[in-house]
Amino acid sequence: MSKTLSNELQLEVDKRRTFAIISHPDAGKTTLTEKLLLFGGAIRLAGSVKARKASRHATSDWMEIEKQRGISVTSSVMQFDYDGHRVNILDTPGHQDFSEDTYRTLTAADSAVMLIDVAKGVEAQTIKLFQVCRKRGIPIFTFINKLDREGQSPFELMEELERVLGIRSVPMNWPIGMGRELCGVYDRMKNQVELFQGNDHSTIEVRKTDDYNDPIIREMAGDYLHDQLVQDLELLDVAGDQFDIEKVRAGELTPIFFGSAVNNFGVQTFLDNFLELAPKPTERMSKSGPVEPTNEKFTGYVFKIQANMNPAHRDRIAFLRICSGRFERGMSVRHVRAGKDIKLAQPQQFLAQDRDIVETAYPGDIIGLFDPGIFRIGDSLSQNSEVVFDELPTFSPEIFAKVTVKNALKHKQYQKGVDQLTEEGTIQVFRSVGGFDETILGVVGHLQFEVFEYRMRAEYGVEIQLHRMTFQFARWIVDDKIDPAKFRINSTLVQDKKGNYVVLFENEYAMRTAMDKNPTSKFLETAP
Ligand code: G4P
Repeated sequence: MSKTLSNELQLEVDKRRTFAIISHPDAGKTTLTEKLLLFGGAIRLAGSVKARKASRHATSDWMEIEKQRGISVTSSVMQFDYDGHRVNILDTPGHQDFSEDTYRTLTAADSAVMLIDVAKGVEAQTIKLFQVCRKRGIPIFTFINKLDREGQSPFELMEELERVLGIRSVPMNWPIGMGRELCGVYDRMKNQVELFQGNDHSTIEVRKTDDYNDPIIREMAGDYLHDQLVQDLELLDVAGDQFDIEKVRAGELTPIFFGSAVNNFGVQTFLDNFLELAPKPTERMSKSGPVEPTNEKFTGYVFKIQANMNPAHRDRIAFLRICSGRFERGMSVRHVRAGKDIKLAQPQQFLAQDRDIVETAYPGDIIGLFDPGIFRIGDSLSQNSEVVFDELPTFSPEIFAKVTVKNALKHKQYQKGVDQLTEEGTIQVFRSVGGFDETILGVVGHLQFEVFEYRMRAEYGVEIQLHRMTFQFARWIVDDKIDPAKFRINSTLVQDKKGNYVVLFENEYAMRTAMDKNPTSKFLETAP
C-alpha cells in the first residue's frame, strides 16, 4: 500500500507546476493568463478572464461584486492540464486590489513568471513582487510582452533587469525586428524561426534553420533585419550568459522569452519551455526540518484567508497550499496551533471560472477550505503528526491611517473586529507611544482600508473614520534604549501588537537620517 502511495505521489508531484505571474498593471497579465488557459482547454472562449477583470474594475464598489457573487471573485487559483503537466496559476491581484495577500500568495508558488511591457520595462509593482520572489530564491522566468509595439531594444531590457533588479538574464529567443517591423523570433535553443504573420496567430509558422546565419532568415526578413539579428546573436554568444539550469533554479538567472500575448505570438513556445524548466513542488521548511512533497503524511499551510462579503454568509475561505502527501475529501487532520483534529469536508478547488468540490489533491495544489473562523494565516495542518511550517513573512506597510470610532459605545466590537482582521492579515495595527493613545493602521494597498472600513460596518456594526497619514515607511527598531524624542521630525514612534517598537517615516530622507544618527540601532523592514 505504502509503496503504491509513494509511487503515486512521485508521479503527481513530478507533473505539477505551481506558479504566479508577477507584473505591473497593464503589462498584459490578464491577456497572457487567458492564452495559457486556452492552451490548457480550461476555458473555451477568449474573453472570459478579461470579462471578469472588466467587471471587477468597471465598478468602483468592489464589495458589491463580492456580495453578488458570494465569495472571492478577486482571489483565485486556476488549474489546468497541459502536455502531461498539471498547472496551477496563482492569481496575484494588482491595481487597487494590491494588498499583503498579493505578497503572501507568492509564498505558495514554486516559481514566478515576470511579465514586462517591452516599452515600459521594469515598473514599480514588478520590482516589489520580484523582491519577494527573490527573497524566497524561487526561479523567475521573464516574458517580454507587446513585441508588436515599438519598445526598448532587447539589450536595453536585459541591462535594465540587471541594473534595477540585480538579476542576470539569458534570452531563450530573440526578436527579428520589433513593432511594425516585427517579423518573428529566433529560437536560440531549437535553432528555428517562428514567424509573426498578420492578425490571426492561432497557428504559428515555424521554420527550421541550421543556425541564425541560415539564408532562409535573410529571405524572410530582408538584409537589414537579418544583419541586425546576426550581429545581436553573435554578441550574445560571446558576451552573454550561458543558459545554466542550476542558476535558473537558484533564482540567479532568468530565462527571457519575447512575444506578444494579445496576438498569441510566442505564448505556446513560452509555455512549453517554461513547463519543462520550471521546478516541480519542492521541500518546504518546517520547525522540525524540511518536509518532502513525497512524504506520505499529508501536510499543508494556510497562506490566505478570503472573507465572504455577503453578510448573509459569514463564512470565509482559507487557502491551503498542500506540501506533502495525498489530500482526500473528508480526511481528518491535525490543526496544530489549535491543538485539535478537524475534518476537511467541503474543500474546493479553483478552476478558471467555477469552484468545484475536490476529492483528491496533491502537493503543489491549492485547496479552499470552508472556514468558520478557526484558521489564521500561516496555520499548519498535518496528518498524524505535528508538523509546523515556518512562519509566513510579514511585509512592511506603506500606507497609514489613524482610526477613530464614531460611536464610543461600540469600542468592544471594534476591538473584536480589529483582532479578527489582523489575524486574517487584512491590516497591521500600531499604537502610538506617549501622548494620545491612538490606533494606526498600516497596509500595502488602498483596498485594504476600504475592506477594513466596510467589514467593520457590515460584520461588527462599527462605523469608523480613517484619517490618512503622511508616513510612507515602517521600520521595526531594535535598540536597548528607545527614546521617542528622537523620532519626532518627519517620523513617529509606535508599537505593534506584540509591543515591538516601530518608527514610521514620512520619506526616505528622514529614514536615512535616523539610521545615520542611530548607528547602534537596527532598523528592520518587518517584525523581528
Ligand atoms: P493586466 O492584466 O496586466 O493589467 O493587462 P491586460 O491583459 O488587461 O492588458 C492591458 C492592455 O494591453 C490591454 O489593452 C491588452 O489588450 C493590451 N495587450 C496585452 N498584450 C498585448 C500585446 O502583446 N500587444 C499589444 N499591442 N497589446 C497588448 P486595453 O486597450 O487596455 O484593453 P483591450 O480593450 O485591448 O482589451
